[in-house]
Amino acid sequence: MRLAIVGCGSRHKMFRDSVMEDYSALHEIVAVCDTNAHRLGLAAQAASRPGTNGVAPYLAADFDTLLTEQKPDTIVVTTPDFMHSDYIVRAFEAGCDVICEKPMTIDLERLKQIVDAQHRTGRKVTVTFNYRYSPARSQVREVIASGTIGEITAVDFRWHLDRVHGADYFRRWHRQKQYSGGLLVHKSTHHFDLLNWWLDSTPEQVFATGSRKFYRPETAVALGLSGHGPRCAGCPVADRCDFELDYSEHDELRRLYREAENDDGYIRDQCVFAEEIGIEDTMQAHIRYASGATANYTLTAYSPWEGLEIRFQGTKGELVHRNVEVHGVFGGKRSHAEDAVTTELHLAGKPPQMLDVPSSSGDHGGADPVMLGYIFNPEGMEADPHNRASDHVGGAWSILTGIAANMSIDTGSAVDIPTLLRSRGIDLTAAA
Ligand SMILES: NC(=O)c1ccc[n+]([C@@H]2O[C@H](COP(=O)([O-])OP(=O)(O)OC[C@H]3O[C@@H](n4cnc5c(N)ncnc54)[C@H](O)[C@@H]3O)[C@@H](O)[C@H]2O)c1
Repeated sequence: MRLAIVGCGSRHKMFRDSVMEDYSALHEIVAVCDTNAHRLGLAAQAASRPGTNGVAPYLAADFDTLLTEQKPDTIVVTTPDFMHSDYIVRAFEAGCDVICEKPMTIDLERLKQIVDAQHRTGRKVTVTFNYRYSPARSQVREVIASGTIGEITAVDFRWHLDRVHGADYFRRWHRQKQYSGGLLVHKSTHHFDLLNWWLDSTPEQVFATGSRKFYRPETAVALGLSGHGPRCAGCPVADRCDFELDYSEHDELRRLYREAENDDGYIRDQCVFAEEIGIEDTMQAHIRYASGATANYTLTAYSPWEGLEIRFQGTKGELVHRNVEVHGVFGGKRSHAEDAVTTELHLAGKPPQMLDVPSSSGDHGGADPVMLGYIFNPEGMEADPHNRASDHVGGAWSILTGIAANMSIDTGSAVDIPTLLRSRGIDLTAAA
């Protein structure tokens, strides 16, 4: 494939390095694109091989020129979430396929644009749900699909973001819903996708509540951080703040963001207690699925530990999966914690049994390298027994729970997803 990458921040490196280090015999990065000239320059340099003419950099305003000059087959979209739909649609119209980071998009209007463009052009978007690819998550799916615990009737799912990883969503673009859809879309897209995939079903009705309880000015006062600045750099109370993101400790972060600020004013280290933050940090949803199962879901972004706990109640027994995760994000203070994963099977009338949980190495519990293998060299991988690849339909269902949850928070009422889709003319059943 001739690949072009749009959006050259932190995440694009995973795709770039994978192509350059593992799949260069099969694929070539022909262009990079970004609104920020500084980050674009760094990306073009890093994607260029010695002894070649290098990879062509294009500012975002020249994306159409990129398409006509470089004739890529596939566009990798790693911009902030609200821009995904724009690039997906333009890529489809130019005859390209797309590899898009999650969430596929953030609202119904943009979702309709993607689905309509997909129907018009027949092109394909692969949404990169890396969590599906961790062996521990596949084992959960296997147990459920085998019918061992019977029909799934009720699920309790809690996702904890700790004060390092969770705080990072309150420093930059994620912290406004118009850019990220809020955490119920931006982050929960992973979790709702897992639920859809585990249950092999789709969400039908959602009731949700959400509020900002921790990342707000009152917490700064309670923590003795009154008089804090608008950002960590130059903040008068930084030396006593556990949430500081200190550029002097992170060369790469400094090069990528601090040294690029003059180009676009993108500030990576804004104060997590700022008044203007527009997203929730405490969210709960009750979801009814087409299969008849119901789920309770909780997401908090200031937990003392990071990871997930899920309990599936079936007609024959229970499955309980727990994963303590440690993410290598920047800023803040994290003391303890090591990755740990357990899955317990408890059949009615029998003692509980801890399952042997398979593991593999790599980011996101070993998920990222496996996913990249299926994306960049599917012929080299075994046929996927877990049906893990996701297109615009899976991408859509994964955000619909969060979009409906946001609407429910606003209105105080339950939201019916099939009605919502019909009212907006969004057809997820039509053949591609
Ligand atoms: N699956 C995962 O585990 C995972 C992890 C991290 C990020 N992500 C996703 O990756 C995407 C990027 O996240 P990130 O952390 O790299 O963000 P980032 O802010 O570090 O990078 C985004 C880049 O896009 C550029 N950009 C902004 N507007 C643009 C436009 N209109 N056209 C072109 N470029 C534009 C910015 O200048 C920046 O370089 C997000 O959608 C995020 O949800 C996924």
